[in-house]
Order: sequence, then C-alpha cells, then structure tokens
Amino acid sequence: MADSLQISTGEVTAELPITEGAVRATGLAVVETDRGPLASYDPGFVNTAACRSSITYIDGDAGILEHRGYPIEELAEKSSFLEVAYLLSNGELPTATQLADWEYQVNRHRLVHENVYDIIKSFRYDAHPMAKLMASVVSQMTFYPSSRRIAEPELRELNAFRLLGKMPTLAAATFRHSIGRHPVYPSDELGYVENFLAMLFQSQQRVWRSDPRLTRALEVLFILHADHEQNCSTTAVRTVASSGNDVYTAAAAGIGALFGPLHGGANEAVLKMLREIGSLDRVPEFIQGVKNGRGRLMGFGHRVYKNYDPRAKVIKQAVDDVFEVRGMNPLLDIAVELEKIALNDDYFVSRKLYPNVDFYSGLIYEALNFPSEMFTVLFAVPRTAGWIAHWTEQLTDPDQRIIRPKQLYTGYERRTYVPMEDR
Ligand code: ACO
Repeated sequence: MADSLQISTGEVTAELPITEGAVRATGLAVVETDRGPLASYDPGFVNTAACRSSITYIDGDAGILEHRGYPIEELAEKSSFLEVAYLLSNGELPTATQLADWEYQVNRHRLVHENVYDIIKSFRYDAHPMAKLMASVVSQMTFYPSSRRIAEPELRELNAFRLLGKMPTLAAATFRHSIGRHPVYPSDELGYVENFLAMLFQSQQRVWRSDPRLTRALEVLFILHADHEQNCSTTAVRTVASSGNDVYTAAAAGIGALFGPLHGGANEAVLKMLREIGSLDRVPEFIQGVKNGRGRLMGFGHRVYKNYDPRAKVIKQAVDDVFEVRGMNPLLDIAVELEKIALNDDYFVSRKLYPNVDFYSGLIYEALNFPSEMFTVLFAVPRTAGWIAHWTEQLTDPDQRIIRPKQLYTGYERRTYVPMEDR
C-alpha cells in the first residue's frame, strides 16, 4: 500500500504523505502552474474529502452502511429511531437510563410557539410543505436567539434537543395546513413516531389509533433515513455551520438541499414516474425511453452505492408488512417489474445502477395515506438526527474552517469597460 504520493515536475519534486487514504490537497500547491499553485478540480466532490468524520461509514461497492460501527440492518431491526439519534450524536448505544433521559429531553421540547402556526398559515393552501418546513425551522432561531451562541456546548445540546423534538410537530403542522385542518398538539402519552402519526392524522371526532405494524414500518424508515454521511443536504448543513450558524439555520439549508429531485425529492419523483407508466405492459417502453436518454429511472443509481443500497433491502421487507395491513397497490407491481428488467439490462448493469432507498419508500408512504408532496418531509424529519450530529462535529473539529471552495476561472481576462452608448 502506498503511504505517500511523489510529485515530480521539471522544477520540483515533493512527497505528499497519504494519511487515512488521502493526501492534503494543499500539498499540491508546491507545483506552480500558469494559473498559480496547482489545485485539484472535482465537480460534485466525487473524490474529495471535505472533512474527517466518525459518524457513518459507507462502502458503496460492498453495499455496507454503518453508524458508529453498527450495521444499518441491525439498527433497523433492533433499535428505535431515538436510540439511533442518540448513537449518531453520542457515539455509543445508550443504556436504558441514558435512552430514557434522551427521550425525555427530546419529547419535552415538542411544543412550538403559537406564532409558528401563523407563519405556516401565511402560506397559500397549496404551498409545498417543504417550503413551509424550511421557513418554520429557520424561524426557531428567532424564538431561541441564544441558539446563536454556538461556542457553548450546553446551548448546542439544548437546541439540538429542541430541533429534534419540534421537527415532527412542524412537519405535521405543514401537512394539516395543506388539508385545511387545525394543527394537533403533541401528546406526552405517545412515543416519537406514534405521536407524529397522531399529529398528522388525528381528527376532532375520534381518538386516533395507529396499527403498531404501520408505526413500526415508519420507525424503520426513520432509522434508515437518519444519516448518510456527506450527502448533498448534510454538506449544505456543514457549509452553513462553517460560517458560524445555529442548528436551525443550518438545518433549513439541509431542507433546501434535500428538496431537490436528485436527492430527497426522488421518492416523490418515483411515484410520479410509476403513475405515468400506469400499467405493466408499458414498462419495457419506459425502460427503452430511459436508455434512449428520455429521463432517468427515478429511485435507481447512487453516487456512492455501486451495489444494492442496503437500505433498499430493508425497505423491501417493510413494504410487505405495510401492504399486508393496507392491501396491495398496483403501482407496486410496476415497481417490481421495473426493478426486475433494470437489474437484467446491460445499460443499468454496466453503470452499476441499483435501486436506492427511494425506490420503494414512496410506495410505503402512499400506503400510509401520505400525499406525495409530504414524502420529502418524511425524509427531512429523521435526517435531522444526522444533520445535528454533523453540525456538532463540524463546529467542534479543530481542523475545520469556513467552507469556501476554489474555482477554476474560465471567463474573460481584464478588458476595457464599454460605455452604454457604444454597446
Ligand atoms: N436512470 C438512468 N440512467 C442513470 C441513472 C438513472 N436513475 N442514474 C445514473 N444514470 C446514468 C447516467 O446517465 C450516466 O450515464 P452515462 O455515463 O452514459 O452518461 C451514468 O449513469 C452515471 O450517472 P451520474 O449522473 O454521473 O451519476 P451521479 O453519481 O452523479 O448521480 C444520482 C447519482 C444523482 C443519484 C443519479 O443516479 C440519479 O439521478 N438517480 C435518479 C434520482 C434518484 O433516485 N436520486 C436519489 C438518490 S438517493 C438519495 O438521495 C436519498
């Protein structure tokens, strides 16, 4: 194994040490070019590490995802979502007492200021819930101005509890607003996921009861979405944190990044795609269209996984549980057929395109009665656990500085200003 990289040009020879599988990009600067010190060019940060992190490990070729060393499959089977959130932030699985205390700290912060409901109400009835979520999350900073004192560990922790506690309340309020219903207040009687479901679906007329199998299916989805190392939204959170921001402002940036159809918005796009395909006999034609460059097979492919996304495997089991309770959805047959054809087609095989977490999650959300606009919100709620862990890691890492990438300038060289009358 190489432990250093030799750089040798006509004028300079240098040896860059390889540590943790990487060289320091600043080491390249020993080489002078016509544009100044040598830099690396990496659109989309495909091969550039922007931080050192001990939260989540992924081996994309082997299809491995681990949080703090624990495989996602085991966490999804044995843990609760709040237990995983504890693990992400604290590095260890909690004891029973630590978990009870953590749950108490998160759950006691579930209520939001009444004015937040007015913020949500000020949106049009058909506003996308992600926009309402982003606005209501960033507004928390104004209700808790001391959250800006990010150098104080106690305040960092308090506001992390607040955000994790309030996220389901805010998410549910955006949904209630869309359907023209009053928000439902959080209940101390219910756990994190069940309380979320109650705040979404409770009606004035009858006490809402969740089927435990459906609650567990959503809890599993929450665990699967809790963190995924330096993805687009977590990178947005870290970037906004790096200029010295509170957890609410950073999470709002994460929500914006997550909204895109290439990231968290993909599950909504998958459902749209399945509806457009409409029937099993149109699947081959759709696949051919993708191969001819007419759109993408949404829910397939991943920047990191070049093998089956381990989260997609767990989700497939949850799909069975949910459909057992709710009955079959014809779109599931289309999804299964798409997967079968794509996994045997050279276009997808040669590009290592496999189903990702979003391929089946939308079908589960639909079976749980969520409209498709809510799907990305259902991703944002659990991902907050990961964002909080990364926000804290970013702020406490002595190596870190404000994130400010270089560019390779491709524009004009200096030229003479042309007055308006001469243009
Ligand atoms: N359908 C068809 N072709 C695809 C797909 C797809 N879903 N994904 C990638 N490709 C093709 C590209 O056209 C490209 O082909 P080419 O080499 O002939 O040009 C090749 O595979 C590589 O694709 P890139 O876009 O370079 O891969 P990248 O790593 O940049 O993108 C991404 C990853 C954005 C996830 C991509 O696979 C995609 O758009 N998938 C569909 C959207 C999706 O499901 N996103 C959810 C990701 S998981 C998450 O965020 C939770």
